[in-house]
Amino acid sequence: MTAEKEANKAKVIEVLNKARSMELHAIHQYMNQHYSLDDQDYGELAANMKLIAIDEMRHAESFAERIKELGGEPTVEKAGKVKTGEAVLDIYVNDAAREDDTIYAYNQFIKVCMDAGDIISARLFERIVDEEQAHMNYYDNTAGHIKNLGPTYLAKIAGTPSSTGPSKGFVTNADSADA
Ligand SMILES: [Fe+2]
Ligand SMILES: [Fe+2]
Repeated sequence: MTAEKEANKAKVIEVLNKARSMELHAIHQYMNQHYSLDDQDYGELAANMKLIAIDEMRHAESFAERIKELGGEPTVEKAGKVKTGEAVLDIYVNDAAREDDTIYAYNQFIKVCMDAGDIISARLFERIVDEEQAHMNYYDNTAGHIKNLGPTYLAKIAGTPSSTGPSKGFVTNADSADA
């Protein structure tokens, strides 16, 4: 393999690992917010937060799989520290900002992949950036509801179910359990 090819591969692995560490941070941040919202009895908000954390886990895995395919080593480092004890409005304002930063970064990473001639990694980023946009829209809408309706909106959410239904795992899957 030529030196140029190797250098291009290294650049792609670098952005895939940057993205993976952002995903690992998001997973931990959203899990923490999920428990906090559940504790405060905002069931519907807690359930959606759990589902978004699971989306981020899929993203972290997809990036790791592509890194392995390219012969790299997936990072285990989180991109930042997990904030705890945030107020409900702050959760949504901060998460919308995080998703917006992620969308911007992944668009830059798509360019890096294209310049390096790696269309497969570019396509992976394209698929994932669409999901980050869906997360951002949801966080932004929720922040808007809390800002505009405040306690009225939160009172409507209080006591709603926090169940996300059966989740698929090694032990638990849709056929065998409803945990
Ligand atoms: Fe993600
Ligand atoms: Fe996201």
